[in-house]
Amino acid sequence: MQSIHEIIIIGGGSIGLAIAIELRLLGADVTVVSHNFKAAAGHAAAGMLAPQAEQISAGAMLDLCVASRDLYPEWSEKIESISGADPGYWQCGILAPRLTHTHTDADWLEPRSIHHHQSGLSESIVGGYWYPADGQVDSRALVRALWCACQFLGVKWLDAVKVTSICRSGGRVTHLETSEGEMSAQHYILATGAWSQQLLPIPVVPRKGQMLSVMVPEAQLANLPLQQVLFGEEIYIVPRRDGRIVIGATSEDAGFAPHNTPAGVEQLMTNAIRLFPQLRDLPIQETWWGFRPATPDELPIMGTSSEANLTLATGHYRNGILLTPITAKLIADLVWHQQADRLLSDFSWQRFDPRSASISDRL
Ligand code: GLY
Repeated sequence: MQSIHEIIIIGGGSIGLAIAIELRLLGADVTVVSHNFKAAAGHAAAGMLAPQAEQISAGAMLDLCVASRDLYPEWSEKIESISGADPGYWQCGILAPRLTHTHTDADWLEPRSIHHHQSGLSESIVGGYWYPADGQVDSRALVRALWCACQFLGVKWLDAVKVTSICRSGGRVTHLETSEGEMSAQHYILATGAWSQQLLPIPVVPRKGQMLSVMVPEAQLANLPLQQVLFGEEIYIVPRRDGRIVIGATSEDAGFAPHNTPAGVEQLMTNAIRLFPQLRDLPIQETWWGFRPATPDELPIMGTSSEANLTLATGHYRNGILLTPITAKLIADLVWHQQADRLLSDFSWQRFDPRSASISDRL
């Protein structure tokens, strides 16, 4: 087999950058082609590392998410040591307060203990769960650190370059057509998130999320009112160490419709204040939106494709930031060492291939 040296990664979000770093560390000559760096979902994400709080069912996806969460401490240190930039990893734990008492299992926190655990919760909270191993990373700081690490390692970075077509012949990608002309390499990796269907017939569609942030006043910074994530029903509240509090997120089938809307912002503010009333008085700092890459079964698409020299790493839906370290590791091993980890086996594009016998079972 011809050894791979030159690799083009299409997509400059957290997944594309993290794969670029792993492959560059292995010795590859890597180019990342990014259409619009700021539009990548990683810039919009709250950065929760929440396989348990998201209540992902037991199985391959939970295994993948927990493995990635467990990589975070060491991996974020590695990214910081290469880039010199702190990605803002914080194993702060996630508290999941509930407004209705529907649970009777052993982990359920009774009202007295949940209000003791976190002061300032709404009096309507009747209990909840505590997930100490979950946490967060400051997604914008992470993307910045990944970009700096790529620069330091000599990854070639092409921003504002749009790949318009992946040209294929004889079971291989021959070249890319881009806004800057043709480009070619020995191997290609697709990491274009919500935009993937513009280049390949794979079922990845945008699911819009609106977000906002408030800021704790300077006088209270030494004594932040929240030191853990609150993961409520249809709302999450993510305090950063610098006093910012990120509030998210809507989940809308709105295509790539830009902008925040009054209805979206109202939903966030109403749900957030209902959970943690003192937020009502904090100054709004920013509102923004992003596009999650959603697949029909809400699982990522990762691994080989129908073209021998094209690897897929897309469709991470609500878990792109969480799954960044494991995706980078699994995809780098697959491309560079031709080693397919068993963790990849449930995330093949073939589950959506009409020629696959199992498709009706999987969709
Ligand atoms: N990971 C949370 C969200 O996508 O809203």
